[in-house]
Amino acid sequence: MKILVIGAGAREHTLAWKLLQSPKVDRVFVAPGNAGTAFIAENLDIHPTDLEVLGKAAKDNGIDLVVVGPELPLALGIVDYFDSLGIAAFGPTKAATQIESSKVFARNLMEKYGIPSPKGVVFASYPEAARYLEGQHPPIVVKADGLAGGKGAIIAGSMQEARKALSDIMEARIFGSAGDKVIIDEYVTGQEVSLIAFTDGKTISPMVPACDYKKIWDNEQGPNTGGMGSYAPPGFFPAPLVEKVSATILLPAIKAMANEGMPYKGVLYAGLMVTDKEPLALEFNARFGDPETQVILPLLKTDLVDILLAVVQGNLNQVEAEWSTDACVGVVMASAGYPGIHKTGFPIKGLDEVDEDLLIFHAGTRLGDDGEIYTDGGRVLTVVASGRDLAEAREKVYRQLPSIHFEGCHYRTDIALREIS
Ligand code: GLY
Repeated sequence: MKILVIGAGAREHTLAWKLLQSPKVDRVFVAPGNAGTAFIAENLDIHPTDLEVLGKAAKDNGIDLVVVGPELPLALGIVDYFDSLGIAAFGPTKAATQIESSKVFARNLMEKYGIPSPKGVVFASYPEAARYLEGQHPPIVVKADGLAGGKGAIIAGSMQEARKALSDIMEARIFGSAGDKVIIDEYVTGQEVSLIAFTDGKTISPMVPACDYKKIWDNEQGPNTGGMGSYAPPGFFPAPLVEKVSATILLPAIKAMANEGMPYKGVLYAGLMVTDKEPLALEFNARFGDPETQVILPLLKTDLVDILLAVVQGNLNQVEAEWSTDACVGVVMASAGYPGIHKTGFPIKGLDEVDEDLLIFHAGTRLGDDGEIYTDGGRVLTVVASGRDLAEAREKVYRQLPSIHFEGCHYRTDIALREIS
């Protein structure tokens, strides 16, 4: 088979790496990819939203299956487009992607089908939202309806912050039309975990649960990022909770989508808050998580291609996904200044000076004409180690991280620490 992976991050590098382990796969292409994917696959210099050019490249290269990483091409209808070309694509349709691309759609779905989630109220008018806000008490969550690059949900610790969030979204329109509507959600406390499942629209097959770290600095300090690290599996979310969430959140969501005439195929990501009463769905995403994928897929023992094909063909009930009982810890190495303005173009040293079993998934990297690898983005690498438990995986990754270096590089030192101390 020839497979085309869409995207440029460490999630897509992980997907390409895992797909290449399948005896069914001859070649993997990545559009546009990064320096890491250039070493193991063939990069195509095409933007993930340039659907027509992607379609032509897929035809020219005889692609059998397209695997979509980021949400934006899904929201634009990339799966529908490849379907129209007669090329199999793994992921939900444009209509089904609304579960991520419209928080209001997801909120209404959860309410209609009784999926446990924090209480929230939807507003399409700024004055009405502002009036409602005045009757609430912080902390409170203000969420833009549409896609906002992971920055659309603001947890306001004070009324001043909540007012500013609402005005930024609906008046200043910092997220453009994604802020036409907002949801004002109650703030719930507990432990956050991501449970991501393969689904063919009827059957779900949950992956190993994982936790990600969104703040830039240790101890949840500083601004939000695209994710600074992750680990799997969390000790506080054992198998009975996976079963419970599958039964109360994931399967009901899949059935709801089918009932609404939008059968959902691909992966469904539930962002959960495990409260002292029950797990609640904070959000759904229509894709693999980043950086969760980097610590989940190394634990998959089954051929990923078999699972993806079963999803596309609608016979996931015939494939049993098997997972290692090991643990993985992934740490993101970022450029100085990230998540704000940051310089790129620095050589990355020491990539060959680590143990062979350390996994280095590239994100913002570029292969120079001189054969050197240079930084090319805010999040540069996700470095992943596996071990018999989280303590062993954590020790392995943090012992070796100092060998890898680029100017201004920084990373969190507390990934998975809470599971150990
Ligand atoms: N790790 C959060 C996400 O992928 O949306």
